[in-house]
Amino acid sequence: MPIKTLPAEFYKHFLSDRVKQLKPSPIRSLYPLEKKPGVISLLAGKPEPSTFPFTSLSFTARDPTNESFETTITIPRDELSPGLQYSDTAGLPDLLKWITALQEISHGRHHGRNASGGGEEGWRVSMGTGSQDLIAKSATALINPGDSILVESPVYAGVIPIFQNMDCKQIEVPTDADGIRSSSLKDILETWPQSEKRPKLLYTVPYGCNPTGMTASLERRKEILKLARQFNFIILEDDPYYYLYYGGAARPASYFALELTEPCGEEAGETYAEVGRVLRFDSLSKVLSAGLRIGFATGPEEILNRVDMLTANSNLQVSSLTQLIAFRLLDSWGYRKFFLHTRNIAAFYKQKRDVFERELQKWLGGGVPEEGERDEGRLVEWVSPEAGMFFWQHDSRTLIETHAIANGVLALPGTVFLPNGFKTPYVRASFGLLRDEEVAEAMKRLRKTVLEVRNMK
Ligand SMILES: Cc1ncc(COP(=O)(O)O)c(C=O)c1O
Repeated sequence: MPIKTLPAEFYKHFLSDRVKQLKPSPIRSLYPLEKKPGVISLLAGKPEPSTFPFTSLSFTARDPTNESFETTITIPRDELSPGLQYSDTAGLPDLLKWITALQEISHGRHHGRNASGGGEEGWRVSMGTGSQDLIAKSATALINPGDSILVESPVYAGVIPIFQNMDCKQIEVPTDADGIRSSSLKDILETWPQSEKRPKLLYTVPYGCNPTGMTASLERRKEILKLARQFNFIILEDDPYYYLYYGGAARPASYFALELTEPCGEEAGETYAEVGRVLRFDSLSKVLSAGLRIGFATGPEEILNRVDMLTANSNLQVSSLTQLIAFRLLDSWGYRKFFLHTRNIAAFYKQKRDVFERELQKWLGGGVPEEGERDEGRLVEWVSPEAGMFFWQHDSRTLIETHAIANGVLALPGTVFLPNGFKTPYVRASFGLLRDEEVAEAMKRLRKTVLEVRNMK
């Protein structure tokens, strides 16, 4: 299928006034010239790495093929320098290359010229200090005060203050067990008031959503993409749980993948796809370590160029050293072992999900949990997650968030995930860190709380 890449002018409408006025960093914008053969650079105030005390770095890591086997990775003195030095704003070149190829493999996209004969796909990758950093910078790059943006509801609580700080209106699009309700989104867009600027963005977490744990179905994703094309908005695909998918069915394709494979229109009797409408955020936090603080954004160059300008004018770049550590580990594994590692992690969370759900069913799902207990009927409703580490529990009969603490169990009240102050009877329960014995005890305490509150009425 022929591919149309959205042209640079397309993004003029989307970029915020603030980033349009940004001046490039006077030093960092000249960095690429330093790499030209024969150039002697008197440019940056870079320190001389040989004056640093670090002479080598060694660490051990578990091998994905055999979890009890540890390998030692040593970065000798001459190879350590890039990790001790300032590096490119978009990321350490070796890591960027590795991650770009990962995106090609994972999402069937092509960096540079498209293999099926199309033109350039117009995307690249930029590193950030966690995906949170990149989401915040992308918001700055794309939102003007007073803009309306579409957010799935409930939404990841970490983006609510980002959007609030941008002074934009957050239009909540309801979700259900299959992800964003495309029919509701269609209604919102079709009845949008003539007098108001139309929304430019939709923010969504498509796998193992934080907080609902839901994974959007393929059908829904296709419908949302269709609406994005029809009503001209960009999809911010925040996907830190992509590699934590453990659903029984085949993994639904990402929005970044779908924009290449879903036909957009017809020209001269031939269907074509249109790319450049998806900005994707990935994270190494859930798969390598949250402490590395490495996330990556993948999407239109026009947007990422501005994100990089924001980086160059603020924190300069992600730590070269953590990028080097991540690169050396990933490079030593190769893609096969990386995917094996992520499958192992997904299996770990699936097992946690199963234990949690078993105890949830036992203590709050109806029936007699243990001798001496009464059957109180079903006390809580939930949808079983297929990725990630969250359960979203509906407990209409109780004020669990206020009474549970007294009984020694904590869950996050659903209201913190609603940007416009609406009420919800849901709570988010995270099962990622719990030991199996703690799960049963937590469910016992939740049952006690629910029954106490019920008897108070
Ligand atoms: C949906 C979502 N987006 C972004 C983040 C931030 O992740 P990072 O550690 O990459 O900044 C999180 C962290 O929990 C998250 O759940």
